[in-house]
Amino acid sequence: MKDNKKAIVTGCPGQDASYLCELLVEKGYSVYGVSRRSTRENSNMLFVENLTNNRYNAVTMDVTDPSGVSDLVKNVQPDEYYNLAAMSHVGQSFKEPASTLMADGMAVTYALEAIKNYAPNCKFYQASTSELYGKVEEGLKLDENSEFKPRSPYGAAKMYAHNMVSIYRDSYGIHGSCGILFNHESERRGLNFVTRKITTGVARVKCGHERHVVLGNIDAIRDWGHARDYVYGMWLMLQQENPDDYVLATGETASVREALNYVCDLAELNMDEVYKINPKFMRPAEVPYLCGDPSKAKKVLGWRPQHNWKSLLELMYKSDYRTAAREVYTYR
Ligand code: GDD
Repeated sequence: MKDNKKAIVTGCPGQDASYLCELLVEKGYSVYGVSRRSTRENSNMLFVENLTNNRYNAVTMDVTDPSGVSDLVKNVQPDEYYNLAAMSHVGQSFKEPASTLMADGMAVTYALEAIKNYAPNCKFYQASTSELYGKVEEGLKLDENSEFKPRSPYGAAKMYAHNMVSIYRDSYGIHGSCGILFNHESERRGLNFVTRKITTGVARVKCGHERHVVLGNIDAIRDWGHARDYVYGMWLMLQQENPDDYVLATGETASVREALNYVCDLAELNMDEVYKINPKFMRPAEVPYLCGDPSKAKKVLGWRPQHNWKSLLELMYKSDYRTAAREVYTYR
């Protein structure tokens, strides 16, 4: 690797960026970690900033501001740009469809334009998503050639971004790659995503802090892996000579119900006494089933996920249990 490669990473308060920044700093990059002013206080961000000393540069910027994005690219002259900033909660995107389009769609065009104009050799990573596929037949394993039919404002905005990367690749020779990532979770996952709701919720019930875990559609089926494995895949994509799109997934599925049951078993609790359903967590249109086929990433990138949904949930539960057990006793 050339001395002191420079990378811009957006979405720095988030789970994925926290792992990616750690990886890049470890590999000797100078990292420019972008976050909005309003999200700077997030714990993942502070964790990264504390850990990474002088190789990590915290940048306050809004990715939906085109002049901010182009100034940053012009000034930094990055070798790599990882676009992880997004309004990433699918359910919430139904409540704020227009701002979702700005953050998850238009912001990608601003970044691509900045790269085209000021750093045309910079490699670009776009966080695409399995939400692009929408409603598919149960049992199918989805790959890079499967049809995209998004069912949420989030999915539609991400599809626009996905298409723009391919357009800039073909039209201007930009080295833009999209990772079509299936669900990826960790001990740092936001508390409003279902795996973390389950692991933290069950841990809190176990410790007597709460009576129930309240969920929406527990019949949904997902392919869950560990975020640390997936950010390594992102980095691998940008080390290739040619840009391309890759599915990252485990190829294994479980329903939300099975995930909850598994975590309740770890906690030695009876699932039926632990959960409640509240329709407010149901979505206007659901994606009932997603399972990925990561064969291409395995073959071309040599990528291998280290966790499946069970080992992932066990890590998450143990971490949340340790936290809950330290909290003052509040119920029982
Ligand atoms: N969040 C949430 N909260 N989801 C619930 C709940 C609940 O209380 N109860 C059931 N679910 C169901 C959702 O309806 C969905 O079918 C499934 O659990 C997973 O929901 P999330 O964890 O919110 O993830 P997601 O699949 O919608 O989207 C995540 O993965 C995508 C693919 O990687 C997000 O991280 C997206 O940003 C990402 O693109």
